Amino acid sequence: MGVVVVETKDAVRAAVRAYRDSAPGREVGLVPTMGCLHEGHLSLVRRARERNGLVVVSIFVNPTQFAADEDLDRYPRDLERDLEVAGAAGADVVFHPSTSEMYAQAHATWVEVERLTEHLCGSSRPGHFRGVATVVAKLFGIVAPDTAYFGQKDAQQSLIVRRMSEDLDLGVKVEVCPTVREPDGLAMSSRNAYLSVEERRQAPILRKALLDVAAAIDQGERDPRRVETVFRGRLAESALARLDYMEVVATSDLAPVERVAGEVLVAAAVWFGGTRLIDNVMVSV
Ligand code: PAJ
Repeated sequence: MGVVVVETKDAVRAAVRAYRDSAPGREVGLVPTMGCLHEGHLSLVRRARERNGLVVVSIFVNPTQFAADEDLDRYPRDLERDLEVAGAAGADVVFHPSTSEMYAQAHATWVEVERLTEHLCGSSRPGHFRGVATVVAKLFGIVAPDTAYFGQKDAQQSLIVRRMSEDLDLGVKVEVCPTVREPDGLAMSSRNAYLSVEERRQAPILRKALLDVAAAIDQGERDPRRVETVFRGRLAESALARLDYMEVVATSDLAPVERVAGEVLVAAAVWFGGTRLIDNVMVSV
């Protein structure tokens, strides 16, 4: 049986209700995406398939999480191929709404997650996580899944969404799945398609610099400023890389640490030409 594509909230609700009536006790999994699906997305779909009776994948390029000067208009889209690969990975239903279906003209409600959104991508993309939290809250309301699947690649987003689901009592478990990488270590991302040949060749430096940082911490480095020096040293080997941010934050509250201790997230965003790539590494000391 192929994947069923639905474009309205009512149709998704009806599909989920019909499934729950037909299979009491079986669980429903949701994988929210913006499409142009790659192996990173598909790993979430496969995980959801293993754990649930019904797997819903949403494909919606959410305008409210893009700033005016960002890549909303040129964000890659390929629905035909997405349906094929999502179905092959185990999706039952693909929810692909229009912008007007998702956001009523009178839309006036926004979800702000405090503190966790202050640093990392929150400071370099103001308003971004307000758009993410709002659309994910809406998707949780529409699909009402038992579990939603997110990627460690977007570590801050995953933690924000988990906090939101708990704080608003949405009743959705948030499972975070490992980052899927290209053979040379570059984290898979829809935005990798923007890279020129030379930018693509240099982009794995981001992962290498994060691994250098993890090694330095393993060897006893505890000063976040010196950690940044290690990171910048490796990044300097790439003529095209321009640092947006690199921060060492506690995984508990995503606030920068004075000394590396406990479990920390080292996260970075780096520009290659007009393309901004992010990656991170988690380290426990
Ligand atoms: P998108 O960038 O399409 O990513 C959808 C999901 O795939 C996110 O949970 C993301 O962390 C995960 N993902 C992306 N690349 C990955 C990789 N290389 N390995 C593992 N997982 C990966 O993130 C969004 O869309 C949007 O912000 C969304 C949550 C859909 C809200 O609009």
